[in-house]
Amino acid sequence: MTRETWATRMGFILAAVGSAVGLGNIWRFPWVTAENGGSAFLLVYLAIVILVGVPGILGEFVIGRRSGRNPVGALRELSGSKAWGLVGMFSVLTGVVLLSFYSVVGGWILRYFVESVVALGTAGPAPYFTDPGPYYDSLAFTTDAVLYHVAFLALTGAIVFAGVRRGIEIGTKVMMPAILLLLVGLAVWASQQPNAAAGYAFYLSFDLETLQANFFDILGPAAGQALFTLSLGAGTMVTYSSYLGDDRSLPFDATTIAILNTFVGVLAGLVVFPLLFSVTGEAGGSGPGALFVSIAGAFARLPAGTLIATAFFGVVTLAALSSSISMLEIPVSFLVDEFELSRPVAVGAMVGLVAVTGGVNALRPALFEFVAGPLVDSLLTTGLIAFLLFVGWVLGTDAVEELRKGAGSVADALSTPWLFAVGVAIPLFLVFTLLSSLGVGGLAAGVVPVSSFWLTIVLTLTLTGVAFLGLRSSRSVV
Ligand code: PHE
Repeated sequence: MTRETWATRMGFILAAVGSAVGLGNIWRFPWVTAENGGSAFLLVYLAIVILVGVPGILGEFVIGRRSGRNPVGALRELSGSKAWGLVGMFSVLTGVVLLSFYSVVGGWILRYFVESVVALGTAGPAPYFTDPGPYYDSLAFTTDAVLYHVAFLALTGAIVFAGVRRGIEIGTKVMMPAILLLLVGLAVWASQQPNAAAGYAFYLSFDLETLQANFFDILGPAAGQALFTLSLGAGTMVTYSSYLGDDRSLPFDATTIAILNTFVGVLAGLVVFPLLFSVTGEAGGSGPGALFVSIAGAFARLPAGTLIATAFFGVVTLAALSSSISMLEIPVSFLVDEFELSRPVAVGAMVGLVAVTGGVNALRPALFEFVAGPLVDSLLTTGLIAFLLFVGWVLGTDAVEELRKGAGSVADALSTPWLFAVGVAIPLFLVFTLLSSLGVGGLAAGVVPVSSFWLTIVLTLTLTGVAFLGLRSSRSVV
């Protein structure tokens, strides 16, 4: 069976941006930002997107395009070792875990969307307008939530079932422009609401003191959020780039994807924060219900609320779908490549599995919060560390050769520092963030209270330097 490829360059970029732009930007980002101090968090997060995200996407792209395989087959074939294939299995697992909570949130969103449309049709207020808090409580983590989760999953399955070109590519080509247009419209509208300025201040003002005081606490969640929003560490980018031809410039595509995703993320913040502040006067509390309760409450108090709410939940449904399909495509491509299952059978099997695992999440709030936060953060971080070490130490010069294909002189200049970054600096940094989210950072900050912020920077640089020398003497890849 010949493997599918993207029909157009734009198709690939839009699909990858569609994967990146999702609930991570609109639902998780405001929640995590609000919990971690607003603008200070934004700054660390943006730095990680640029310094870790772009080289990281490139790392996954190199693996995917060079092998033309799913993450398991890719690592096994490129290394010639079954053990690396097992490492690739980690991606398949991560894809399933991700989808098992994502589809639950997708279900909540779908429900708000459906109810907004119904309200619009009957010209009444949306049902969640009167008491947004209790309304959210009455539907999240109930059997209804399981039903909507399954409905959302079925939509995801239908697109992936249709295949790479007819499903994923065409689907995202329609969804992405719609998302952008609606978000820009909503951001302009939000800016005119009373007290919007307080939202901008919380979101955008630069504050070095908060940053220094909370650096360790911010680091783990910021790295987790950066990877999550860029769809990194799960093998999505490996999988999508495995359908890519040799004539595309990987550095160009990776940068475009990171820029567009950040643009949409920041734009979503420009919709969400002014609205939250204009209605509640604060960032909207914390936890996964924040968006639903506060945004829904905001819409209720504003003119033409139902119409705006319909547009908003419509956008979010599309954004969630264009990401969930990329999660499902990881295990599906694995089953199709490795077991030669037909696409419909592979999709059916995975949808069946996630219907159950997601159903459990949909009923248990404590489990859900663990999966959606710490579990996903650590799976993605560990996954990305593995991919990047593979690129730096197993592929080495082959990775550079792959990077240069179709990329011209930019890649020539960038390849050595890039290989060093993915082989050494970024994995070290990621190990560090993993430890700091496990609380080790807090400990260090207690022992050395003076300026743990600068201490971290110096330590990371020193370790990086040492490892660089080690790498240089053990293999002449950099
Ligand atoms: N990037 C997606 C979002 O922000 C989530 C995602 C993570 C998708 C990992 C695929 C892989 O919603």
